[in-house]
Amino acid sequence: MADFERLVSLLADGRFHSGEDIGRQLEVSRAAVWKQLQKLSSLGLSLESLKGKGYRLSKKIELLDRGLIEGELHQDVASHLTPLDIVFDLDSTNERALTKLSLNEVGKGYVCLAERQTAGRGRRGRQWLSPFACNLYLSLVWEFDSGAAALEGLSLLVGIATARTLTGFGFASLKLKWPNDLLLDGKKLGGILLEMTGDPTGRCHVVVGIGVNVDMFTEGSAIDQPWSALSQYGEVISRNRLAAALLNELVPLLAVYASTGFAPYVDEWCGLDAYLGRSVRLMSGDGQLVGISRGVADNGALLLAVDGQERHIYGGELSLRLNNDP
Ligand code: ATP
Ligand code: BTN
Repeated sequence: MADFERLVSLLADGRFHSGEDIGRQLEVSRAAVWKQLQKLSSLGLSLESLKGKGYRLSKKIELLDRGLIEGELHQDVASHLTPLDIVFDLDSTNERALTKLSLNEVGKGYVCLAERQTAGRGRRGRQWLSPFACNLYLSLVWEFDSGAAALEGLSLLVGIATARTLTGFGFASLKLKWPNDLLLDGKKLGGILLEMTGDPTGRCHVVVGIGVNVDMFTEGSAIDQPWSALSQYGEVISRNRLAAALLNELVPLLAVYASTGFAPYVDEWCGLDAYLGRSVRLMSGDGQLVGISRGVADNGALLLAVDGQERHIYGGELSLRLNNDP
């Protein structure tokens, strides 16, 4: 572990640590400690110092902990996964998984979690704001034999796994927005980004990327739409417990998806649909389509009633909004 990571781990408890003690634990000089302390603000962490007592973070943080997460995984889930790859700071967990796939370093069951992403991404290369140690950024690799077409409903299935997980933590009002958004109180709490590599008509790997805002209090101006975080609605929940619970829900669904497809989950998805029965606007590069949202089909297509006719809409370069929203 690099000195800086060790410093953050040491201070994570929110207690005072003397400069001398920090230096001893990191095995560096006082001057080097001071240099490392200066870097904390680059992570958005604020440091307090008190003469005679030393330094502490103004807020305790819970860092990701492989032992804690793996300890909470169900045995059958753990048997599908390789040891978790937990990274302090990276560009994007999806990018790391894709790079490792391309180098044949990882395969099905690889999971990457990060404390911070400097180039977290959403669909179509949009930015996913990923501040340090306050949210969940997770990517999981899975393998399929049946090509991209069979994966239409996969993003929706991942939404169901995430909703089941958050409902389990008491967030019963969580809703989904087709095709990939998690909403709490109508505001974006998280998102799902699937990226595929391999043969689009046959054997391929899918990187399932999930971002959930747990305790984000960043100035909202960086996000150009209403957003939410779990901590706005209750106590701050443990990201380690959340990660384990999410994998416990997600992995069994992925394990059967190749044989079940999305059809058995249509009713559950429609029960979570934020826009069911509402007048919506579907925007694409070509223009927009206004209709009534009628849920989803067996293959995950959005059902949109337009002038009395039901249209099946497939994912892609599309954005769905309530008709009266900007
Ligand atoms: P749509 O799928 O309908 O086009 P979208 O506008 O939400 O939805 P996405 O690509 O799914 O677009 O998500 C990226 C967008 O999410 C960003 O453009 C930004 O508005 C928002 N965003 C970025 N980071 C966060 C975050 N941490 N929490 C909530 N929203 C975020
Ligand atoms: C969206 O709403 O468009 C999807 C956002 C997905 C964000 C997650 S965070 C973990 C993974 N790594 C990324 O770079 N993106 C996904």
